[in-house]
Amino acid sequence: MTFAAITGWGKCLPPAVLTNADLSTFLDTSDEWIVSRTGMRERRVSHVPAIQLASTAAARALACAGLDPAALELIIYGGCSNEELVPNSASGVQIELGATRAAAMDINTACTSFMYGLSIGTSMIRSGVVKNALVIGVELISQYMDWDNRNVAVLFGDGAAAMLLEASDTETGVIREKLQCYADARQILRVRGIGTQYALQGLDFGQTRWDFDGQEIFKKAVRGMSEASIEVLSGAGVAIDDVALIVPHQANLRIIESVAKYAGAPMEKVHLTVHKYGNMSSATAPVALVEAVEEGRVKPRDLILMPAFGGGLTLSAHLLRWGDRVTPL
Ligand code: UT7
Repeated sequence: MTFAAITGWGKCLPPAVLTNADLSTFLDTSDEWIVSRTGMRERRVSHVPAIQLASTAAARALACAGLDPAALELIIYGGCSNEELVPNSASGVQIELGATRAAAMDINTACTSFMYGLSIGTSMIRSGVVKNALVIGVELISQYMDWDNRNVAVLFGDGAAAMLLEASDTETGVIREKLQCYADARQILRVRGIGTQYALQGLDFGQTRWDFDGQEIFKKAVRGMSEASIEVLSGAGVAIDDVALIVPHQANLRIIESVAKYAGAPMEKVHLTVHKYGNMSSATAPVALVEAVEEGRVKPRDLILMPAFGGGLTLSAHLLRWGDRVTPL
């Protein structure tokens, strides 16, 4: 059987930091409110386009694995921050990398886009369509944030991360996953102003207004991530104690604490980045995984659980087995 090993990893975080104190200079909010309700202290704001953020993370992932871009067969650009609808963003990354032989596709399931992309890349390697795939999670939310709305403006940040998958005979990479969508709740997280229906209404790009029912999203996120995690663990015949690390989507520290409690895992097992990057949507989980590896929290052959949720409301849980290498080539 063929598996899809994670052989390369890289991230790109823009250097500009937006703190809670900065936000309280133009919004009716406070560091105390944001920290106590979300666990967030600061987030990043990009000065470069999304394709550049994505390409930098992608180039680092390829370098980490020592793969020549010309040998790359598939690029998956996961996120909802596209520079244009046509051409797609993955083709922009392809040009930047010089990956002349690759196929290129965008995938948008909001905050879970990287995780869904990981499933697609893994499946295409397992089925023999490609021998390798670069999966990217990238967001440039600052460009379409509703900066007058304190309900959402304090929660999000920009960033990117990428993982290279390569065919392997060893059981590694994604070993079990659950993907789902609570479509009946699709209206509780909506960015108004981008898309064909708004063009028909004569709205210019950038006139965005967010519909955001925080409490409902919170409840569905806890339920969805918890149930998906349990299903994946039991399907794989793995006990939570066998999982070395949980690397969840990070939209709110309280959501993460609830999911860890439901799964029966201590918070020491969870890798957190929410305090320093906020919610970077699809970039959140892969950035956290890259940092967990860089900080030595991932050991060879570790089992890693990655639950996530996002607009749609999409949700997912992935159980990964890390490979033998935890350092870049
Ligand atoms: O990746 C998917 C993205 N979405 C999410 O993950 C969202 C999930 N939801 C959440 O994380 C939480 O629901 C929030 C952090 C968004 C809000 O926390 P909450 O504990 O559910 O607060 P709340 O919505 O019940 O609001 C409590 C109060 C309200 O004031 P009143 O009505 O009690 O007077 C809000 O108007 O806090 C007020 N409030 C704020 N105050 C200061 C809302 N946003 C802010 C703010 N600063 N930024």
